[in-house]
Amino acid sequence: MPAPSPVKSLVGTLKMLDGRTIPQFGLGVYEMNDADTYSATKGALEAGYKHIDTAEWYENEGQVGRALTDFCKSSGAKREDIYITSKLMHNRGYDAALRDLKASLGRAGLDYFDLYLLHSPIGGPDSRKELWRALVDAKKAGLCKSIGVSNYGAKHIQEMVDAGVELPVVNQIDLHPFMRHPDIVELCEKHDILLEAWAPLARATKFDNSVIVKMAAKYNREPAQIFLRWGLQHGYVIIPKSVSQKRIESNANIFDFEISDEDIKELDGLDEYHITDWDVVGVE
Ligand SMILES: NC(=O)c1ccc[n+]([C@@H]2O[C@H](COP(=O)([O-])OP(=O)(O)OC[C@H]3O[C@@H](n4cnc5c(N)ncnc54)[C@H](OP(=O)(O)O)[C@@H]3O)[C@@H](O)[C@H]2O)c1
Repeated sequence: MPAPSPVKSLVGTLKMLDGRTIPQFGLGVYEMNDADTYSATKGALEAGYKHIDTAEWYENEGQVGRALTDFCKSSGAKREDIYITSKLMHNRGYDAALRDLKASLGRAGLDYFDLYLLHSPIGGPDSRKELWRALVDAKKAGLCKSIGVSNYGAKHIQEMVDAGVELPVVNQIDLHPFMRHPDIVELCEKHDILLEAWAPLARATKFDNSVIVKMAAKYNREPAQIFLRWGLQHGYVIIPKSVSQKRIESNANIFDFEISDEDIKELDGLDEYHITDWDVVGVE
């Protein structure tokens, strides 16, 4: 299937394979300390964000949960109005996966995650198969509503297709104009697996690139907004991280302009396999 059309606001959602929906825009909270996690999560929710992306690895599920609970109390919002993702850190087998997921929920003070991901494909085919079975069972038990993967390369996705198992609703990979992973994107889109873009801002490492500067001037936007609009128009779920309330708000100010097809193509041409964090899509 071709990539979905971009949503029109922070509340806009994309349909997933399992029939559920996911807000296309969210806040990532990687490498935030406790205080920043609490204030960024609460500030983002107050600014209208509907989706927060955390992980066991980030050691801040507790502060995300606390900010969510406080936001619901002060605003009258309900838990089900907000979409929370977390991820399994250790690939240590079926029982440990369920234990770790329950421990994450306990830290966050939540009954369920909206989306729970295997954080990486590391561990080999047998481990991946076992962990995926654990996630399928976790969903059946109501511990999470939807299940997906992260950092899966094309061969890991193909392995799931070949095994005939339930497919992940998303594959969260590093995606921005300087890292486009065309093989993974093509295979996921073929099987209706949504792409979720981590480091959608390329971690602020390319804001001075001449094409980005040119586009920012042409559309009268910040470089960050050009990156995010590019991801949105490609149909990716985007989860930019910021600890600054000003940037949390400006990053979400991307629904009132459109980058032309010609300019999207020029941005696509910037792909140079630019690694901003880890790169495990090729592991055995
Ligand atoms: N699944 C995975 O393996 C994986 C890996 C990495 C990340 N993630 C997820 O994806 C999320 C996003 O990725 P990321 O945090 O690596 O990188 P990112 O969102 O691409 O970039 C974050 C960086 O950009 C800066 N920034 C944000 N908005 C800005 C703006 N408007 N102008 C200038 N600078 C700006 C932030 O600084 P300030 O905070 O100071 O604003 C921070 O240094 C993470 O938080 C996490 O939830 C997942």
